[in-house]
Amino acid sequence: MNSEVLIIGGGVIGLSIARELHLRGIRQITVLEKGVCGEESSWAAGGMLGPQAEADGAGTFYDLCSGSRDLYPAFADALLAETGIDIELDRSGTLYAAFTDEDEQHLNSRFEWQKRAGLVVERLTAEETRRAEPFISPDVRMSLLFPNDWQVENRKLLSALRLYAETNGVEIRENTQVESLTIENDCVTGAGTSNGTFPAGKTVLATGAWTSLIKLGDVAMPFAVTPVRGQIICMRTAMRVFERVVYSRRGYIVPRADGRVLAGSTTEYTGFTKGVTDRAAADLRNMAFEIAPSMDRLPVIDSWSGLRPMAADGLPVLGEIEGLDSLFVATGHYRNGILLAPLTAKLAANALIDGKTDGRLADFGPNRFRATASGSSI
Ligand code: FAD
Ligand code: GLY
Repeated sequence: MNSEVLIIGGGVIGLSIARELHLRGIRQITVLEKGVCGEESSWAAGGMLGPQAEADGAGTFYDLCSGSRDLYPAFADALLAETGIDIELDRSGTLYAAFTDEDEQHLNSRFEWQKRAGLVVERLTAEETRRAEPFISPDVRMSLLFPNDWQVENRKLLSALRLYAETNGVEIRENTQVESLTIENDCVTGAGTSNGTFPAGKTVLATGAWTSLIKLGDVAMPFAVTPVRGQIICMRTAMRVFERVVYSRRGYIVPRADGRVLAGSTTEYTGFTKGVTDRAAADLRNMAFEIAPSMDRLPVIDSWSGLRPMAADGLPVLGEIEGLDSLFVATGHYRNGILLAPLTAKLAANALIDGKTDGRLADFGPNRFRATASGSSI
């Protein structure tokens, strides 16, 4: 069957784009997934929606992240109405705690730029921090409170997006690995896979950390995506003891509604090898212990890892490749793919349906990596 749009990759990005296209009237959508949808990076994530906690300065990337965060309340409500699945959007806020001189300097400069930019952020003394989160370490020196940085249960988000696709006629082909795109006269006409060829009017590349493995015929991919492993350990408390996500400069803890507490994460260049190492598990325990010494008594009940997709400049890769028609690339979301999913979906749909390249994509196009006339490239 000829798909109107073929989406390669069934992670949060591919599935969010499939939903958005369907909402806008596209009916023949196929998602090709090499394994099982939603079981890679998107499943491994912490689910934090933290544009302010993670941004070192203002700019178009911050705007993209905060714009997507702002879509979440409506996104969560719509998914609940569409699928009956509550993705547990938790708007309790995020606390960023300082334990050393360097931490304090770092947080003070973050506070200053965000205040100058008119963002909502509060600076709390040690005492105010302990009042806000009674289980935080007595060694805490101060913190920043970001009331508008939230979290979501990313695995429930994936279940909701999948259910939306299944109940709305989006065809999902799992265990189907795309090897190359089919290209005729500089136009992408579908994909060649382990299960045959899939012709399509338009194609979306949402293949996360594996994007650089796909062949584009004679066209060189103008960017590379590197897998960056992140490990998480998971503990459980009888009841939820932290109200908010808590960051330090060495990691973060994410309290879930059901009493689980995630502690993450590592940043490792290990190719496509996943897995949890004893060393990382110990480091993550120490990181969590610094934030909250009482965590030391909790047994680790689960652990996992995932591969973040990182482009050379760490920014998302969104848009068309020069010289190739009918292809939209949506990859390189690195540390923020859960956060960026709803806006990525809207921007991709604008480009695929209306042919409009939104100004917000200007700094994120795949062609930014091409060598310039002066010979330089990113
Ligand atoms: P993926 O979820 O990896 O999906 C890509 C899919 O494409 C996969 O299912 C893969 O099997 C499929 N695929 C690849 N190649 C092919 C092929 N050739 N043919 C067919 N299918 C193919 N982000 C946040 O916003 N907040 C967080 O708190 C957060 N925490 C994180 C914590 C950890 C430990 C990690 C690892 C990541 C975290 N992230 C977070 C980042 C986030 O998980 C990613 O940016 C996001 O999941 C990327 O989504 P994706 O759909 O591009 O990739
Ligand atoms: N954004 C959190 C992480 O990537 O670990």
